[in-house]
Amino acid sequence: MAERNVKHLDTPKAPTLVITKYMGSKKAILPFVVEELTRLTEPGDIIVDLMAGTHTIGYAMKNRCRMVANDIQRYSMVIGQTLLNYEPKPRFEGDVKSALRRLYLSNARHLEGSFENALKLERAMLSNESSRKPNWSTYSEFCESYPFISRETNATGWPEEFQILFSQHRLEAYRTLNKLEPYNLFSLYFANAYVGVRQALEIDSLRYAIDKICDEWVVERPELGYDSFLLRCLLMCALISCVNKVNPGPGHWAAFPRVSQRNKDWIISQRRLEIYDIFIQKVGEIELALAKNPSPHGPHIVSSEDFVAFMREVHEYIRQAKVVYLDPPYSQGHYSRFYHVLETLTKYDYPEVSFAGRYRKDRHQSPFAQKENVPKAIGHICEVARDAKTLLVISYSQGGIIPTADAFRAILEGFYPAEKIELKRLASVHSKLGQTERMKTEEYLFTCRP
Ligand SMILES: C[S@@+](CC[C@H](N)C(=O)[O-])C[C@H]1O[C@@H](n2cnc3c(N)ncnc32)[C@H](O)[C@@H]1O
Repeated sequence: MAERNVKHLDTPKAPTLVITKYMGSKKAILPFVVEELTRLTEPGDIIVDLMAGTHTIGYAMKNRCRMVANDIQRYSMVIGQTLLNYEPKPRFEGDVKSALRRLYLSNARHLEGSFENALKLERAMLSNESSRKPNWSTYSEFCESYPFISRETNATGWPEEFQILFSQHRLEAYRTLNKLEPYNLFSLYFANAYVGVRQALEIDSLRYAIDKICDEWVVERPELGYDSFLLRCLLMCALISCVNKVNPGPGHWAAFPRVSQRNKDWIISQRRLEIYDIFIQKVGEIELALAKNPSPHGPHIVSSEDFVAFMREVHEYIRQAKVVYLDPPYSQGHYSRFYHVLETLTKYDYPEVSFAGRYRKDRHQSPFAQKENVPKAIGHICEVARDAKTLLVISYSQGGIIPTADAFRAILEGFYPAEKIELKRLASVHSKLGQTERMKTEEYLFTCRP
């Protein structure tokens, strides 16, 4: 097997557009991967990205290649459609922007009525005026006692009529009657946990306005030239970006930090952020970036399926493709748990939830995060790529479930002769989301030739 240590990267800077922080994002080592993909492809070739996450690879390569991208998480599809296919023409401004504001306000007014008391209490607690500001422990108590869907203990101190908003009975109506108004999922599930009460109202109201704009307003005005599907993806990306920005946690949603003396200033400053304003700014920023990085090879295919079904479905593309690229999870943390808030924001389906983190019960369990199942999953991908006579490029990190390059190569050698496997290594550091220390590690890039 050919092996090379890459010490220094000469590749020019590849374009990036980060919608949310993401575990395992290739942004930090983008030139390492892009250099290899560029070496292996000619302009116009197809790259199949099996587990595209935040689509850093597709965004960097869409100038050169046609992407056929996939990920099991639905938010990833929204990000991919935007980064790969959205053309910011016409811009999101003028009448459409005013209509969004009006729709936002109409949902917000509804929620302001229902959540009036909680909003008033929160406003005082987050106030900048020291005379109004209560002790942090009062704010902590406010958050801890707050009702939510699936709360098993009594929400002490909250009137009965307020708690009814969170009742199972009402929830069933939201589940059954699709798009029942007002939109209030975040207000019922995540307020005073991952976001503030006001912020939950803003997210719900933006989510409502996005649906109304794309399902109705834009559809009724075809002369304006918006593509309602892609516009929804752009606006959802901006909302995902906002939810990422106000997250008091370390770049994922596996748990929310409880208010304490140590973190109170940080949590309060995060809860003061006004989502509507950030949202409008994000839409503009994303449009601007996309205008600077168009693709001559679109439309790109972006899908949201388990990789096995996806590979079956796009088998003809795999045969035509130059490269199948695989960047799988490499640790035991399931993306469906770490990013459940983004998945629920996207699906907006009032799911059943469990555990302190309020995770969706239907979350996906990836074989790549289960030691006993990784070899079989890798084997399946090797067989499909090899039999289609397409190059297979795999990113992996030292210290993952398959801990070393030798152990990973041993799996690959079950499907390819040793001389057909190349390995490049790059010394790197991992920022472990949620921990301050950075860990020295090595990134691997295996290229397997059929
Ligand atoms: C390391 S991340 C990919 C990161 C991506 N390259 C980026 O730069 O953002 C691994 C991805 O695999 C996806 N995934 C896990 N199991 C999957 C499966 N069975 N089918 C499809 N995608 C899966 C996860 O949702 C996650 O987004």
